Amino acid sequence: MERLAAYNILPAGPGDAAALARVHVRSWRETYAGLLPGAFLAQMNPGVYARRWRRQLMAADSSELILCAEGAGGLVGYCGASERAGGAEVSTLYVIRPAQRRGVGKRLLSSAAKVMAARGAPSLHLWVLNDNTRARAFYEHLGGFPVEERRVSGWDGAYRETAYSWPDIRTLAAACESA
Ligand SMILES: CC(C)(COP(=O)(O)OP(=O)(O)OC[C@H]1O[C@@H](n2cnc3c(N)ncnc32)[C@H](O)[C@@H]1OP(=O)(O)O)[C@@H](O)C(=O)NCCC(=O)NCCS
Repeated sequence: MERLAAYNILPAGPGDAAALARVHVRSWRETYAGLLPGAFLAQMNPGVYARRWRRQLMAADSSELILCAEGAGGLVGYCGASERAGGAEVSTLYVIRPAQRRGVGKRLLSSAAKVMAARGAPSLHLWVLNDNTRARAFYEHLGGFPVEERRVSGWDGAYRETAYSWPDIRTLAAACESA
């Protein structure tokens, strides 16, 4: 098994767009099979997502933080976070299945919390699909707790999501010190 030290957490740049897109599409298919419509997952196109990632990572005014996790074989995960009124919001966190349960998700999330705390965010929250029970258990394990529920926008209102909160972002930022 690859050791934790074999993964580096780095800010993503435009040159990572293609690798981010591959992880993005693969991870969505692994995570949401049986949870989101199969036809949507099947048509996800890494080329299209690579162009979106490149545009986002090249935008001069983007305040969104994108961290990626890199192993010997390339990129295995990423996390996106930005500032919102009253705190930081993590918009994405994905680790491909072979790299899961090796501390990568925790390091990505806590590293993002550390950066956002340094930017002045007092708290952190994120939204997770209600049926994504594995991710919910992970967030609860890291001290997050559910604070709000809503309908997911789009998808004809068929899905619901729950916000998890860390009222003191420093608790999550500290999690990577022990990782
Ligand atoms: C959820 C996810 C980010 C977790 O990342 P990971 O790298 O697998 O998790 P880690 O190895 O960093 O785990 C960190 C800690 O959480 C625990 N943990 C991980 N998954 C868990 C789960 N499903 N239930 C309970 N605890 C869990 C680990 O045991 C570990 O505990 P420790 O630090 O006390 O030893 C990852 O599994 C993933 O990308 N899943 C698919 C995508 C997804 O659902 N993303 C969230 C969208 S909102």
